[in-house]
Amino acid sequence: MDFEIQLAELKDLRHAEADALLLVVGEGSSPGSLGKALGNALEAALKDGDLAYKAGRCLYLHGLSGVKAQRVVFAAAAGNSAKAFRAALVAGLALLKVGGARHLLVASALPQALGADHSQVLAAAVGDALYVYRHTKPSAPPASKLQRVSLLCGAADPEALRDGLLRGEAMAAGVALARECANRPGNHCTPTYLAAEARRLAKSHDLDVEVLDRKDVEKLGMGCFLAVAQGSRQPLKFIVLSYRGAAKSAAPLVLVGKGITFDTGGISIKPAADMDEMKFDMGGAASVLGTLRAVAQLKPKINLVGLIPACENMPGGSAVKPGDVVTSLSGQTVEILNTDAEGRLILCDALTYAERFKPAAVVDIATLTGACVVALGHHRSGLFSPDDALAAELERAGQAALDPCWRMPLDEEYDEGLKSNFADMGNVGPRAGGAITAAMFLKRYTGKYAWAHLDIAGSAWKSGAAKGATGRPVPLLTQFVLGRAG
Ligand code: BES
Ligand code: MN
Ligand code: ZN
Repeated sequence: MDFEIQLAELKDLRHAEADALLLVVGEGSSPGSLGKALGNALEAALKDGDLAYKAGRCLYLHGLSGVKAQRVVFAAAAGNSAKAFRAALVAGLALLKVGGARHLLVASALPQALGADHSQVLAAAVGDALYVYRHTKPSAPPASKLQRVSLLCGAADPEALRDGLLRGEAMAAGVALARECANRPGNHCTPTYLAAEARRLAKSHDLDVEVLDRKDVEKLGMGCFLAVAQGSRQPLKFIVLSYRGAAKSAAPLVLVGKGITFDTGGISIKPAADMDEMKFDMGGAASVLGTLRAVAQLKPKINLVGLIPACENMPGGSAVKPGDVVTSLSGQTVEILNTDAEGRLILCDALTYAERFKPAAVVDIATLTGACVVALGHHRSGLFSPDDALAAELERAGQAALDPCWRMPLDEEYDEGLKSNFADMGNVGPRAGGAITAAMFLKRYTGKYAWAHLDIAGSAWKSGAAKGATGRPVPLLTQFVLGRAG
């Protein structure tokens, strides 16, 4: 997709070259500023009740006389915010992506001039709208004909809009990669596939990559990770991807993504209903790949490392059993009381491994608990951190990228539940507060650096008719990394 800023005014719209116009309108829009043909059409549509300034409302007009573009969509926004702008774009793009339009011109008739956050949202929304999963679905709808998207500058600062477009485009590419990886079924997206994808990304985007196998992981002493992987025929992979944008001596940010390519629950097996969705249990890993993709495209002056422990969680004759005690890379022992609490087991060893990078901060991302979905639903990711400054930074990044999270508590009282008579800790606590005890478990491995944990069990994918990966929280993470780079 080609994105560009078009230096023109609203009143010139009717002459514009594009074959489709997407015009965002709302309270305070003045139809008079659009020129006669567009202005009259807008006024009539409002008067006749075919359009209203309410979120999600749009109107498609074909062959409007006096306007060069064959297709015109008015999309209503409930206010000037980037979030309202995105909602209008999503509704408008749904109408335009399926038709014959090749060159789309987007313009805003909202009273406030656009900013970089608006253009960022435009590029991200176009990427999201045009993504189609087809890897295992030959009958998927054909790709959209859209090839070029222009944004009318109007009274805005063109340089700011350009910056926003570049950021949004990179995020969209990262989101698309994350969605594609996560959507691929467990028999396609294996740990070996994730490693191959990481190698491809390293090659195309000039990253360093290292993939550790079972033997390496045994030598290191990642007893928890090994315990989860031991029930599967699929060989485990531990992926290390690094982006160098600053001096070698500069402390990197480290992202750790849960890469369970299928979670059956293991011997503590899950119920059959909806178990297919556990192919998304590598959504954290996918978001790490996506963020590295976005960051490598934007080239900020920062160092970034991605760590992905990847394996399947399977039952079987060689699977780990409830009550088994294993020794983590940190030396702490763990009684595996429930083999379905496997995410924290692969993460704890990766979090200990992260120490070797002397990181500026470590953020892990995981589809970790059903309890987080109960707590926060599907809108906000769960954020856990003992570090107020880091937590605030991630909250701001989520807000700015329209990929929001919500901070949850980590009081030491919640640690109680992890006590074990046979090891330094159990891997599960009581049902109540399950997302917090999971985070408390991870916290025991993160004393040596600033750390935060994102539980994306509710935000990484959608169920129901629109079942599929969302690519979240790539926007939040990318915004966070860019913010750190200054
Ligand atoms: N991958 C699941 C978490 C999950 C469940 C994500 C449902 C999205 C929807 C994780 O490995 C898991 O099974 N967690 C258990 C933990 C429990 C055994 C303490 C859970 O949430 O039930
Ligand atoms: Mn599980
Ligand atoms: Zn899991």
